[in-house]
Amino acid sequence: MRRLALLPGLLALGGCEGVQAIGPRDGAESAAISDLFTIFLVVALIFYAAVLAFLVAAYWRRRDVASDPEPRPENPGLNKALLVWIGAVILGLTGLTLASYFTDRTIAGSVPRGKPVLSVEIVANQWWWDIRYHFPDPSANVRTANELHLPVGVPAMVYLKSNDVIHSFWIPNLAGKQDLIPGKLLDAVLVPRKVGQYRGQCAEYCGVQHAHMALDVTVESPGDFARWLATQQRPAPPPVTPLQQAGFNYVTTRECSSCHAIAGTPASGQVGPDLTHLISRRSLAAGTYPMTRGHLYAWIADPQSAKPGNNMPVVGLDANELHAVVAYLETLK
Ligand code: CUA
Repeated sequence: MRRLALLPGLLALGGCEGVQAIGPRDGAESAAISDLFTIFLVVALIFYAAVLAFLVAAYWRRRDVASDPEPRPENPGLNKALLVWIGAVILGLTGLTLASYFTDRTIAGSVPRGKPVLSVEIVANQWWWDIRYHFPDPSANVRTANELHLPVGVPAMVYLKSNDVIHSFWIPNLAGKQDLIPGKLLDAVLVPRKVGQYRGQCAEYCGVQHAHMALDVTVESPGDFARWLATQQRPAPPPVTPLQQAGFNYVTTRECSSCHAIAGTPASGQVGPDLTHLISRRSLAAGTYPMTRGHLYAWIADPQSAKPGNNMPVVGLDANELHAVVAYLETLK
């Protein structure tokens, strides 16, 4: 029983560390929110302790009416104590209001004016994230899916849109939630403070596969980010082996290319995730599977079994076609 009583506390602490957690100060916004949480916690604890202390004192000094029927004379200090208590409550509430206000201002001011920031457009879809990096020179633009890379310490302006229903963009280690609302352009500023791998998760129920709408986030040094970006800017390499060639032919001329784009090939569908550097990503289908050959086979053969209701149909490839398609997709590093 005693161990059971500890469970809620342990569960709460479990949310304080890891790749998807609200405690760590891995981003400028999450650090500000974490500080605000600490202030609220301390103030609330002080008042909680004071109320409990008064309760215990009242119990201790209680009058036994049976043996002591005479009411006690009024204590002249009581009114003063009540005024002090009211003053303390007003002070506490004002302090918390001011702390919230200044935290809000800190978060709003986290984009330094005039400094070039990274511009990322993220479009939510049932159930995946379409990600585009925009640069002054459009030929440098990059499109990817379900995987966000950010250079540490550089403010990233993230523009958020939705293609269908309301979703919510949430990378708890870095910042609070921001809804994505169809027909509206919203934004969020991410200022990552620590190199690491994190997990984002859609935080607004958006249909049966809401839970399978994750986002892999990599915060890396500016040098590593520049290398990643340079790789992503390259078009897909041409197929080399006959099997890869067969897969290329299938992917670029049959069902796949009506939804998916692969830069440098005739595949230019826009409704599904861009596949140009598919294999460089950490997961498949927005965090549904880790990126392995086995899972690639499983996903292409039957995308409806792992993620029922998603928009990728079961194409019904025969074994040879499946081998060829996987062999080609594996070249998309
Ligand atoms: Cu998208 Cu929940």
